[in-house]
Amino acid sequence: MTLSLDAYWMPYTANRQFKRDPRIIESAEGVWFTDAHGRKVLDGHSGLWTSGLGHARPEITEAVSQQMARLDFCPPFQFGHPKAFELATKIAALMPADLNHVFYTNSGSESADTSLKMARAYWQLKGETSKTRFIGRQKGYHGVNFGGVAVGGIPANKRLFGEVLETDHLAHTVLPENVFTRGMPSHGAHMADELETLVQTYGADTIAAVIVEPMGGSAGVLPPPVGYLQRLRHLCDEHNILLIFDEVITGFGRCGAMTGSDAFGVVPDILNVAKQLTNGAVPMGAVIASTEIHDTFMTHAGPDYVLEFAHGYTYSAHPVACAAGLAALDILVEEDLPDRVAREAPYFEGLLHDQLRGKPYVSDIRNYGFAGAITLEAKGDEPLRRPFDVAMAMWERGVLVRYGGDTIQMAPHFVMERAHMDQLVGTLADCLDTLQ
Ligand SMILES: Cc1ncc(COP(=O)(O)O)c(C=O)c1O
Repeated sequence: MTLSLDAYWMPYTANRQFKRDPRIIESAEGVWFTDAHGRKVLDGHSGLWTSGLGHARPEITEAVSQQMARLDFCPPFQFGHPKAFELATKIAALMPADLNHVFYTNSGSESADTSLKMARAYWQLKGETSKTRFIGRQKGYHGVNFGGVAVGGIPANKRLFGEVLETDHLAHTVLPENVFTRGMPSHGAHMADELETLVQTYGADTIAAVIVEPMGGSAGVLPPPVGYLQRLRHLCDEHNILLIFDEVITGFGRCGAMTGSDAFGVVPDILNVAKQLTNGAVPMGAVIASTEIHDTFMTHAGPDYVLEFAHGYTYSAHPVACAAGLAALDILVEEDLPDRVAREAPYFEGLLHDQLRGKPYVSDIRNYGFAGAITLEAKGDEPLRRPFDVAMAMWERGVLVRYGGDTIQMAPHFVMERAHMDQLVGTLADCLDTLQ
């Protein structure tokens, strides 16, 4: 069958280039994709940071099929089904400290916007009605909905859309003195102090929340400098500002701990997840709130038949997604995969730095847990050209990586064997040698 490519307007894709030279994936198993030509392609990015357990896990397939046959849909407004409660209990048990209350979404972008609305509403309910502003961070990515784009800090994602929220941004933490650092950079904790300046500019009484990824992902793996998140937490406490961690990439194992919060030792007030929650098998996200935030809604809403939070999606807590989430989290815990990531991360780190440093045009290498990225120098005035060229050369050689901005990003599956990591990084090294 010849596919007609015209009707599908693809997301975050250069449609014209893709349709000239399509990369069609037809099936997946373990760490492998199979493309339309029947070629095995090593998935070097866990799908899209989604599928750390490996693709097509039979336990998830089985749970999803059974759920589909038993209860294919349940209205999430005013009604519930058992698996929604079971999964929330399971998620809460895996979260740090008193992050105990799970509000479901269907994606990372919805988690971002839900968390921002939750933070604003929290202050309204507390009577601090002027606390409406959000502070994001340059190079931050919080999805593509209007709120997430406003707090995000990737200029190309904002350019055509305008701003809808009152926001400002902390500077990013990618400092020249930290290039080629293995793991967390030692310089840069002081970058958090910029919050103090923003507080002086706007007044703490106008700021609802700071939102950051504990480790930046989409801008090309940006581990936090040692002490940075602690400093940010301290300043938020001092100025009565909520701290939101967007853990859409770091949640559920990627950093060698259950969450980025656990990995870096800082607890936010609200923690956003998606992606790995269902191993990417079914769309689902969640916003996990502290007891203080949850209870504020419960105690300020008036009579008990009144909504506490006028927010939610038709597909929130979808039964099939809940079944996938329960099965995925069982595997993550039973196979102790965050621990495996922590144990194997030094091997991955060694490969990245030992094999890629000194290769043509590589200006930085960053990594943490099972996340790694390289930055490539611009080709003339085209910063995006070389990452694109490298990713295409890798696809030709049977390895999928993500290219974004001036970076190449890698995210091994939590179950990935060393031989596959050797292939992933080795192929990248070979492709860099061919770069013009
Ligand atoms: C930190 C972070 N937040 C939000 C999102 C958006 O998630 P989605 O694409 O599921 O809307 C992403 C996606 O990569 C992300 O990395």
